[in-house]
Amino acid sequence: MIKRKSILLLLVPFLLNLVFCVNFITAVQNDISKRVDIDRSNIPKNILFGSFMGGRSHVKPMLDIATILAERGYNVILLASGNNVLSSEYPAVKQISLGPGMGMKNLGKDGIDEEQDYNAMKSLWEMGVISYKRTYEKYKSVVEDYNIDLIFCDLLINEACIDVANTLKKPVVVLVSALQIVDPKPYKFDPILGCNISLENESIWERFRCNFIQVFRYVYSLSDFTNQLNEMRKQMNVDLGQLTLGGFKASLVLIDTFFGFELPQTLPPYIQEIGPILSEEYPPLTPELSDFINGHERVLYVSFGTLYSTTTDNNSKLLQSFIEAINKKIIDGVVWALVETPKDYFYPTLKLSDGTQIQSSQILNNEHPHIHIAEFVPQFAILNHTNTKLFFNHGGAGSAHESLYTGTPMLVLPFAGDQMGNAQKLVSAGVASSLKLTTLDVNDILNKMDSLLKEENVKNNSERLKVLAKINSKRKYRAADLIEYILHSSSFVEYVDDDFLKEWVPAETRMGFIRAYNLDIYAILIGIALSIIGIIVVKLIKFIGFIISPSSDDQKSKKD
Ligand SMILES: *[C@@H]1O[C@H](CO)[C@@H](O)[C@H](O)[C@H]1NC(C)=O
Ligand SMILES: *[C@@H]1O[C@H](CO)[C@@H](O)[C@H](O)[C@H]1NC(C)=O
Ligand SMILES: *[C@@H]1O[C@H](CO)[C@@H](O)[C@H](O)[C@H]1NC(C)=O
Ligand SMILES: *[C@@H]1O[C@H](CO)[C@@H](O)[C@H](O)[C@H]1NC(C)=O
Ligand SMILES: *[C@@H]1O[C@H](CO)[C@@H](O)[C@H](O)[C@H]1NC(C)=O
Repeated sequence: MIKRKSILLLLVPFLLNLVFCVNFITAVQNDISKRVDIDRSNIPKNILFGSFMGGRSHVKPMLDIATILAERGYNVILLASGNNVLSSEYPAVKQISLGPGMGMKNLGKDGIDEEQDYNAMKSLWEMGVISYKRTYEKYKSVVEDYNIDLIFCDLLINEACIDVANTLKKPVVVLVSALQIVDPKPYKFDPILGCNISLENESIWERFRCNFIQVFRYVYSLSDFTNQLNEMRKQMNVDLGQLTLGGFKASLVLIDTFFGFELPQTLPPYIQEIGPILSEEYPPLTPELSDFINGHERVLYVSFGTLYSTTTDNNSKLLQSFIEAINKKIIDGVVWALVETPKDYFYPTLKLSDGTQIQSSQILNNEHPHIHIAEFVPQFAILNHTNTKLFFNHGGAGSAHESLYTGTPMLVLPFAGDQMGNAQKLVSAGVASSLKLTTLDVNDILNKMDSLLKEENVKNNSERLKVLAKINSKRKYRAADLIEYILHSSSFVEYVDDDFLKEWVPAETRMGFIRAYNLDIYAILIGIALSIIGIIVVKLIKFIGFIISPSSDDQKSKKD
């Protein structure tokens, strides 16, 4: 009786915890979209946005937040690799180049399997380490020249940005599109680590393999880079002691995603979900595209982003499956944004399943009435058109967000990085099917297209997620609000002070894991329980021994 009571008592803090966690989640998701009326006269005003990767997909979400802050009277500067990415679409933001743009154009050319994907990640890291010093100095000089008060860093390969902020004692806000790196959970993984996105239904061995073996392999494989990076950091007088477990220290981490697409988990207050970040305005359809899409009822839109393309063999298979899909009336039109794929990356003649031969040059020169090849496309406008029924893409976060926002089901062919994980997330959300570069097959593509277009489930899930994406797309204003709060707060509490932003840091980070989760108490209780059991067992053995062989027998046998 007593035992049962004490177990219940132990459970109370856990139950309370559960209740509060749930309340907390709903509190975070409440959106403050109305104009906040705060006195901005004495708030520090200069904000730097930094991205080492540069490129549309990394820079665009930053510029969307920067634009809101510019409208509120802040001076915003973007420092990114490449030259004036998107500067015509975002004139309010001053842009400075961090160096040459990062091309990943040829990533898919030799085909990619999981091992190669890993290598692609490694070469990115290498690039980051090699250019660390140059990048660090550039960030530092801009921060000093423009008297920057807060630094907003894209997380990917951008250690220099965060290090400069911490060294110069400036608050730093980090933006990333997946939670895996910033708040890892033992039940959520990524195909980059060779594991499923969710370990919910995996065996104990699989959970062990992912959580220990795979994580260890990954950390080990990157250890050279980590060491080189830390060496560079020492040379630049970066204090390595301030780096926390995730490898960086930030005042606030913003996640450009939303639960529904991302798998649910709890988050501490200094990590906030603010995605999907979408622009206010998008370029409209060109007259040519508008005519094409209006003239077809079931259009497939194909785009693998601005960075990726694949082999001649695979490209030809893709083109062949589009022609056959039209012939089989699965779709009636295709718009393919061939941005990075040169037109000679196709076999000159395509042989269809029924034996017909087709010259690919005819199609690539737009002589096919139902296939439109374009070099630049206003992606959002195409997806937003009611006749666009399916989006064939590479699983980039930006494309996935736009597709979810417009309720367009997806066929995903991931190339690298977070795309494998995004593909799995979209499939598990019930709005997509995924393909593999290594096993591309025309019939498989046709079957998947057909069922994505026919299945009622897919339609329903797309409609459901569309609403969720729309509601959540307002949260870029919340991101701007939070940045304003940090600046506001920094004018009252010294940034170096331990009390700065203490309101967002749960006690557990100060208490340590053992105390925060009462592990010390459990250890004592288990100790006590084991001692009691031990005493009982010893007594029992003595007692049994006494019954079986009373001491007189014992002595007899010894004499024998
Ligand atoms: C796609 O390209 C890669 C690399 O050439 C190749 O290994 C793979 O077999 C190709 N897929 C198909 C189905 O042709
Ligand atoms: C991931 O899960 C799916 C089904 O839940 C399973 O078919 C697949 O083999 C799993 N993948 C890995 C890498 O464990
Ligand atoms: C695991 O199994 C449960 C029960 O069948 C199901 O509700 C849940 O969706 C599954 N999770 C995953 C990630 O497949
Ligand atoms: C998307 O389409 C709807 C109507 O289908 C229209 O009202 C809306 O303005 C479009 N959005 C953009 C950004 O083009
Ligand atoms: C999809 O939604 C409709 C109503 O909007 C409902 O009648 C139908 O049963 C749903 N289909 C599935 C497969 O859940």
